[in-house]
Amino acid sequence: MSEKIVTRNFNQPNSWLLANYEAVGGYGSIRKVLAGMTPEAVMEEVKKSNLRGLGGAGFSAGMKWGFVPKNSPLPKYLVVNCDEAEPGTFKDKYLVTLAPHQLIEGLMIAAYAIGAHKAYIFIRGEYERPYERIEAAVDEAYAKGYLGAKLMGKDYVLDVVVHRGAGAYICGEESALLEAIEGKKGWPRLKPPFPAVVGLFGCPTVINNVETLSHVPTIIEKGADWFAKIGTAKCGGTRIYCVSGHVNKPGVYELPMSVTLRQLIYDHAGGIRGDKKLKAVVPGGISAPILAWRPTKLMS
Ligand SMILES: Cc1cc2nc3c(=O)[nH]c(=O)nc-3n(C[C@H](O)[C@H](O)[C@H](O)COP(=O)(O)O)c2cc1C
Repeated sequence: MSEKIVTRNFNQPNSWLLANYEAVGGYGSIRKVLAGMTPEAVMEEVKKSNLRGLGGAGFSAGMKWGFVPKNSPLPKYLVVNCDEAEPGTFKDKYLVTLAPHQLIEGLMIAAYAIGAHKAYIFIRGEYERPYERIEAAVDEAYAKGYLGAKLMGKDYVLDVVVHRGAGAYICGEESALLEAIEGKKGWPRLKPPFPAVVGLFGCPTVINNVETLSHVPTIIEKGADWFAKIGTAKCGGTRIYCVSGHVNKPGVYELPMSVTLRQLIYDHAGGIRGDKKLKAVVPGGISAPILAWRPTKLMS
């Protein structure tokens, strides 16, 4: 059985409630950060962990946070990308529905690291239940005094706004997403400048995927070295694989980065329905080429 990180509490009853998240150690990492870690130390730890963006581009999360100019007089923003409109992708939906406080804790740590006092969670318009869960979780965190004027009771303002998308696939692209939050048509911007320097409302902005930020509390809790060792040399930790189509056990599987397609389909997703032969796999969304299956080469 491989290590679970972001999905480890999925089977806990009412896992989405703040009290139940705290019962399994939730909000311990942000407390640890605020008790004695500088923003630079947090960033360094995340860099060392080899956490890579899990929204598609795979860029180092710690490095991206480091691009935000420290001495800018402008406000800084953190934006969570929960657009998840890529065909065949349905992992962020589960993270937000079953572990919303894990995301909020990751968001708190990231906001502190980059010096942001406002964060936006941009969520796909069609996601009704996930929206209700994340909105309720944000409300719970405010009610407990974990968000707002005093982050976890400390002298640090952090406000969180949940922003619903209106159903455009392109708004998953980070700069189109920023346009949408600003109330404009969701058209991508030319880059450079990159959002870390000129982002939301023209201010320095970090955009991270839900799954990326959901890993952050455990990295702080267990350490960068522990996380880095689970993955491959360049990609720390696990990731969630969404498996759908003609397999026996479709679903979301959290597995190390090193898992092969064959292991994923046959060892975890139960193989092809009716013992038929696998013909081809769509490994990603609409931009990815279809992989034809060559059993003689791959399965010998
Ligand atoms: C057309 C297009 C659609 C995208 N859709 C999403 C999406 O739904 N969710 C997401 O996290 N990233 C999506 N991305 C990637 C984002 O632009 C961005 O790289 C990502 O949110 C950064 O977060 P990460 O570094 O944590 O992965 C999309 C990119 C493109 C070009």
